Amino acid sequence: MQQLKPYLEENKERFLNELLDLLRIPSVSADEKFKDDVLRTAEAVKQRLMEAGADAVEICPTKGYPVVYGEKIVDAKLPTVLVYGHYDVQPADPYELWNSPPFEPVVKDGNIYARGACDDKGQMYMHVKAFEMMMQNNCLPCNVKFMIEGEEEVGSVNLETFAAENKNKLKADVILISDTSMISNDVPSITTGLRGLAYVEVEVTGPNRDLHSGVYGGAVANPINVLCDMIASLHNNDRSINIPGFYDDVETVSAEERAQMAKAPFSIEEYKQHLEINEVLGEDGYTTLERVSIRPTLDVNGIWGGYTGQGAKTVLPSKAFAKISMRLVPNQQSEKIMKLFEEHFKKIAPPYVKVKVTPHHGGEAAVTPTDSIAYKAAAIAMERTFGKTPIPLRTGGSIPIVTMFEKVLGIKSVLFGFGLDSDAIHSPNEKFGLFNYYKGIETIPYFYKYFTELSAKE
Ligand code: BES
Ligand code: MN
Ligand code: MN
Repeated sequence: MQQLKPYLEENKERFLNELLDLLRIPSVSADEKFKDDVLRTAEAVKQRLMEAGADAVEICPTKGYPVVYGEKIVDAKLPTVLVYGHYDVQPADPYELWNSPPFEPVVKDGNIYARGACDDKGQMYMHVKAFEMMMQNNCLPCNVKFMIEGEEEVGSVNLETFAAENKNKLKADVILISDTSMISNDVPSITTGLRGLAYVEVEVTGPNRDLHSGVYGGAVANPINVLCDMIASLHNNDRSINIPGFYDDVETVSAEERAQMAKAPFSIEEYKQHLEINEVLGEDGYTTLERVSIRPTLDVNGIWGGYTGQGAKTVLPSKAFAKISMRLVPNQQSEKIMKLFEEHFKKIAPPYVKVKVTPHHGGEAAVTPTDSIAYKAAAIAMERTFGKTPIPLRTGGSIPIVTMFEKVLGIKSVLFGFGLDSDAIHSPNEKFGLFNYYKGIETIPYFYKYFTELSAKE
């Protein structure tokens, strides 16, 4: 592995330029308009995997966007690492808030700015380059398989079928995923828990058409006002969620684990400063770190209706809409929570409006073990390149396939993320640090080395 550092140094610029080329393709899976670009990105990933030295590289069709697969089988007796990542990205809207166009990456002050820079093209591509390094230097210590999907940002709806139909092909000892963040560049951490998700859209209908707000206002229910009241009632005064049964399955986290969490370096002052807020807000009785990891939440992601154009139009709208997400914790079931939400939301609808609830995608929470060989290998690898033992930490985001892979393939994952929470994923001006990109490429081969060595001792 010694020879890898000079190889990385010599190829740094090319590694960067290749990533920039990938970032130039707007692979937005949520928007049909980008369909050709998403498919073009799959082609590009296929090409890169082949160039890096993978065999059996193919674009595997699904009902949606394809999965790119590739492998290098060194010896069937050696352990196999299955790398998962996604080549699709979130929409870049609102474009006007970007300092440079989202699909024209720029490198500035040590960061790559572009949609997908961190989530997940940059982090996924670290694996392709780490693999290239090991291939070129004849030091790939075990087997590797790549499964890079194109529908993560729209809920990975076709991946369960793909996994179920390809159990043999995907056979592996561990799934390695870089799609999360670390505490900071000085404080490496490994994600040990993710939240689940239940996402719904609601529609509230009042009168059969938009009305003059002077002629009818005051006499007919305004669906936007009603929707706001309904949404407001979904939280109690202590900021817990007011849906009957919502907390029934929530696992209580032990005082011991909470004490462990409290030790993670975290400054509430820096947190507030970074977000330019005076105060934080969340459920009573929990710290900020707990609120974003071990507690479920409910948030409105978007709300619209009536007139939102320029100037003023006096209108009492016929309809109001909102997109609502609930982040779930281990043991809560996404489908059950959607049902509870739907029942409750319809029940609290006053008689002067009609309510429609449409479920979107969901996913289950995940916890990953810290006593596995794979976790240990990841920890020693980070220790080796950061000079510090990483801290295990649960986080608030969701990667629904983690629990699905365990269910369907029987394989556990390691969440080997190199991003930062400040990378603004899903936001304007998403970035990924050059430090993080190269550190990831440097660290990943050590995971392979230690994972292979520790597996042999088992
Ligand atoms: N990479 C993120 C998830 C993530 C980000 C986990 C940061 C932990 C820290 C992933 O691409 C994502 O955005 N997931 C979605 C869920 C999905 C079903 C659309 C999410 O968390 O909103
Ligand atoms: Mn991601
Ligand atoms: Mn994402």
